[in-house]
Amino acid sequence: METKQRENWGSRLGFLMAAAGSAVGLGNIWRFPYMTGENGGGAFIIIYLFFVLVVGLSVMVAEFAVGRRTQQSAVGAYKSVSNKWTFAGVLGVLSGFFIMGFYPVVGGWAVAYIFKSFTGLLAAPDAIGDVFGGFITSPTQPIIWFLIFLAMNTLIVAKGIAGGIEKAGKVLMPTLFVLLILIAMRSMTLPGAGAGLEFLFKPDFSKVTGATFLAALGQAFFSLSLGMGCMITYGSYLNKSENLHSNALMVTLMDTGVALLAGLAIFPALFAFGMEPAAGPGLVFVVVPQIFAAMGGAGTVFSAIFFVALTVAALTSSVSLMEVVVAYLIDSRGMERKPAVYLTSAIMVVTGLLSSLSLGVMSGVTFLGVGAFDFFDILTDKIFLAIGGMILAIFCGWVLKKEDLEDELTNGGTIKFGLFNVWYALIKYVIPVAVAFVAVSGIMAITQQSLMIFGIGIIVVLALFSKKL
Ligand code: PHE
Repeated sequence: METKQRENWGSRLGFLMAAAGSAVGLGNIWRFPYMTGENGGGAFIIIYLFFVLVVGLSVMVAEFAVGRRTQQSAVGAYKSVSNKWTFAGVLGVLSGFFIMGFYPVVGGWAVAYIFKSFTGLLAAPDAIGDVFGGFITSPTQPIIWFLIFLAMNTLIVAKGIAGGIEKAGKVLMPTLFVLLILIAMRSMTLPGAGAGLEFLFKPDFSKVTGATFLAALGQAFFSLSLGMGCMITYGSYLNKSENLHSNALMVTLMDTGVALLAGLAIFPALFAFGMEPAAGPGLVFVVVPQIFAAMGGAGTVFSAIFFVALTVAALTSSVSLMEVVVAYLIDSRGMERKPAVYLTSAIMVVTGLLSSLSLGVMSGVTFLGVGAFDFFDILTDKIFLAIGGMILAIFCGWVLKKEDLEDELTNGGTIKFGLFNVWYALIKYVIPVAVAFVAVSGIMAITQQSLMIFGIGIIVVLALFSKKL
């Protein structure tokens, strides 16, 4: 039998940058700040950091191990053990589709803001908020930018793993990092910035409910690209000599570092400008241009560079999302890469259109109380990813052999993983129980309960028909 040589990452740094590229994205710079703002600041951050270190990091190690062990993308990895588990992989592919239902829309906003930086956005700082609201609700403008973003994404994924994805990340990720540091420094030295730092670092636990915990857990999974097979897929392209746990630790630290930097960039300025922390999804698109507007002429250029970097960060993430779907079509459905990419992207044009329009002209069209954008966002972030991560933990802890996992994580005994037993206990016992507990208490406290129940229904149906998938 002829076996196809599996694509591999071009270099060690290539993998690390690609995995970090997947993790660092809109989740850190667009989503993390507004979630923090909506959930009361410091207390949310503490809970978030706890989930990242205890749950996220362990799940990432597990995803890398499963991917590299099985040499398969999400669906194949589960299926190779038993077709009772195929549904878990399919749930991941579905999550990829759903996240791509709104992610490229926000990516398109970032592209648009590169150009808006030059066309007078910064000249009228007081209007920046209204400009954003007018822009995202327009039936044409954001759609054009969304299509441009999705086209770039499609081209990169069509070129394959080592070619497209690696190169883009290597240059622009460091650029983003440096820019965020500069913006954070500017933000923290504005008069009145202290209130923002207090908001970030002085936890007020009185506002914490079950919903806060679920939001923090969901954000941890989303930001680290976990719970939907992305890191399984990336791990499957990974060389046998790489150290999985130290790679996971580095990706986690980079991701968390960028999120915290984004917080430091936004909140001090937000309070300095006397704005509202719970402003929602517009936060980064409203606060950052204001910071640059206050800088005068040079601000225009900085603003444009910032949104270029944000676009690239978003691209290196959305590329990994699309790759999960594409890898499924290639590995499990026997398609060639190019047709798989074009089919996937054609469907994403439709979901993205619906999402974008749901913020404006189609805002009256709802299902279970929400429009398309929120439907895709809430279902994945609040249910699918966390449950997906929980299923992966159960699969590792209770289905795979402990010796096999140890073998994989120590590269056949050639490297050390001193915390193996701690990691294993977390995966086997702590994480399944913790996620279930947070999910239940979160669902009880949340307002979109019928949507949550619908989401759980989808998972149950997939599980029941797992052998047919
Ligand atoms: N982690 C990405 C971000 O923070 C989003 C993402 C989620 C990517 C899940 C892949 C898988 O923007």
